[in-house]
Amino acid sequence: MLIKRYPIAVHVLSVSSLKGGVGKTTVALGLASAALNKGLNTLVIDLDPQCDATSGLGAVTEFGTSIAEVLQAPKISTIRRAIVQSPWHQSSKMDVLIGSPRSLLLDNPAPTVADVWKLEEVLTHLEDEYDLVIIDTPPSINALTRTAWVASDRVILVTEPSLYSVIAADRARKAIAEISAKLTPRLQLLGVVVNRLRTQSNEHNYRIGELQEMFGEQLLRPFFEERAALQQSTGAAKPIHAWPAEGASEIAKSFDWLLAGALSDMEIGDQKRDRVGVVTRATRGHHNPISELIPQKIEENPQSRRANKKKRWFSR
Ligand SMILES: Nc1ncnc2c1ncn2[C@@H]1O[C@H](COP(=O)(O)OP(=O)(O)OP(=O)(O)O)[C@@H](O)[C@H]1O
Ligand SMILES: [Mg+2]
Repeated sequence: MLIKRYPIAVHVLSVSSLKGGVGKTTVALGLASAALNKGLNTLVIDLDPQCDATSGLGAVTEFGTSIAEVLQAPKISTIRRAIVQSPWHQSSKMDVLIGSPRSLLLDNPAPTVADVWKLEEVLTHLEDEYDLVIIDTPPSINALTRTAWVASDRVILVTEPSLYSVIAADRARKAIAEISAKLTPRLQLLGVVVNRLRTQSNEHNYRIGELQEMFGEQLLRPFFEERAALQQSTGAAKPIHAWPAEGASEIAKSFDWLLAGALSDMEIGDQKRDRVGVVTRATRGHHNPISELIPQKIEENPQSRRANKKKRWFSR
């Protein structure tokens, strides 16, 4: 058997939930702050048309080019114009591929295979420049979130310990498993982060038990409690690691811990794939093994490739 190996460069992590307002952007920014603290060259991609990650990183651009134009035409000149340096940057990079309300127009509820590979194509141009890419996604499971997942190595799901958030986390887990099975085995759920926990609340403690049963070891520690410092630092567009308020350093350490777990899981994943000689990258890494990851049917019948490309792959 021919064993192919592709160099591993950047690690890509999506932060998602199918429920709004649970803390996706807060967790994405906390992880970005931890990455900066660790000296990683980091790119945050703001796929949410609300653009909260872009604002939270204080990113402004003169060009008006955003992720919306990038996904429409992933050309290197467009990509360069849509990436700006965040004022957070230090000796290591903190760049933002900026969001735009225009990306809402791309959030098709029934995306094609061609649609969902677009961000992966973008990352092939950038993989040598960054150690880590963090993607903030919208609170839905339409094209934008799926595009993020197809480009990712791991997804962190964020949930509050409340009924509807827990249901949404379970739904998201199933959707990730479906995309992983159909399109890109590289994609895995890292786990579920609990946010806005109030330890005195009986309801919250009950839901934590439920999450524990549903996700087992994939229920990630530590849990993030309801803390004013998190809200304030995000509102001020400052990294939690540099926020002076009481309690901020403890939260910053929790993000360090979460990031360390994510990085080590992605590195172990890389080694495992190397050992068994399985194709590790979709298009990132040198060549173009998309065809090896898309179900065989497409390859067997090149004449119908176009029709296959248009086929809707995902159940609702
Ligand atoms: N642990 C926390 N303690 C206190 N406030 C928090 C915490 N986590 C998030 N928040 C606040 O809750 C609000 C929603 O958080 P955030 O914007 O991160 O959620 P989201 O899931 O990204 O929302 P959306 O679905 O709209 O993108 C924000 O005002 C944020 O500052
Ligand atoms: Mg958000």
